[in-house]
Amino acid sequence: MRYFITGTAGFIGFHLARRLLQDGHTITGLDGMTHYYNIKLKQMRHAALAQFPAFHPVIAMLEDREAVEKAIAEADADVIIHLAAQAGVRYSLENPKAYLSSNLEGSWNILEIARQVGIGHLMLASTSSIYGANASIPFRETDRADEPLTFYAATKKSMELMAHSYSHLYKIPTTAFRFFTVYGPWGRPDMALFKFVKNILEDQPIEIYGEGAMSRDFTYIDDLVEAVVRLSKIVPSEPSRIADARVETLSHQAPFRIINIGGGQPQTLMTFVETVEKSLGRTARRRLLPMQKGDVPHTFASPDLLYALTGYKPDTTLDVGVEAFVSWYLEACDELNTAPKELVA
Ligand SMILES: NC(=O)c1ccc[n+]([C@@H]2O[C@H](COP(=O)([O-])OP(=O)(O)OC[C@H]3O[C@@H](n4cnc5c(N)ncnc54)[C@H](O)[C@@H]3O)[C@@H](O)[C@H]2O)c1
Repeated sequence: MRYFITGTAGFIGFHLARRLLQDGHTITGLDGMTHYYNIKLKQMRHAALAQFPAFHPVIAMLEDREAVEKAIAEADADVIIHLAAQAGVRYSLENPKAYLSSNLEGSWNILEIARQVGIGHLMLASTSSIYGANASIPFRETDRADEPLTFYAATKKSMELMAHSYSHLYKIPTTAFRFFTVYGPWGRPDMALFKFVKNILEDQPIEIYGEGAMSRDFTYIDDLVEAVVRLSKIVPSEPSRIADARVETLSHQAPFRIINIGGGQPQTLMTFVETVEKSLGRTARRRLLPMQKGDVPHTFASPDLLYALTGYKPDTTLDVGVEAFVSWYLEACDELNTAPKELVA
């Protein structure tokens, strides 16, 4: 099959593209190589994908409508997987404009072009952050999720809503994923695992927000990729509706489905730190800090819909996943740390 994926120089897009290339598919991967974090890492990811002749990279911003239109027309894809975004919860306090531009205007461009080309299946990356401080546990896709605590979450929720309207108006089969704290090799330098490992190895203190009591439903990257690959074959439509109305989110107005990608096994931040320490065989210098503005206390996915649709749910343990990250980091860190200054955010 032919896939058009946005964000292939990013953490998740890289892994997904690599898996699909290994499975024999053709991928056009668009990425704007934004300066949000070390571009060297993004270049390394695209270089690894370039080992596959069936990978066709396009360097362009989502906001550049003409460039995206051309790339999608040339890709002639069966499926579009839209992952490129301004990600990160904390940075949305500093630079909300980047979120407005990438996540709203950029995503709207993808919707418009998906409509023009009549795409067979559009898949979009949303986030567990849209649940905000949801009190009901685990978080179900059917829960009300309209009290976002950050502008990042607000833009992702808006993207889901925009996509529903396009799906209804133009019959675009659409799957929107809500990813829960994804981690693993080639991970993001702005996320806790990368920062913890780097700082512990460099004997620098690590900052632990919420004094370690916050919890996250950590999802190992290979598990997420497996879930997305399975879902790419389940095109939302009435015949795909599952009988269990308590979990099904397929819209009654559109071929549109929202789905959590998380295993339903949350861990506290302190357990996470201890797992990293165990894997490195070192003790961290811990700086306990209060919760930050916009932080959500807990995330906890219900994987029931994912399981009902695919017979699969993420199950890699934190020990195994953290170990895999550490092995990768030890191999990659020299190249990353010696990146030219203009590449490092
Ligand atoms: N990693 C997680 O834990 C997590 C959790 C929930 C949701 N998500 C979502 O999953 C998606 C992928 O996340 P990731 O962790 O791989 O992030 P990432 O930052 O590593 O990847 C995003 C990629 O998109 C590109 N990009 C950003 N804005 C762009 C624009 N306007 N035009 C073109 N390219 C642009 C960046 O250069 C980057 O390579 C994002 O939509 C993110 O919001 C991630």
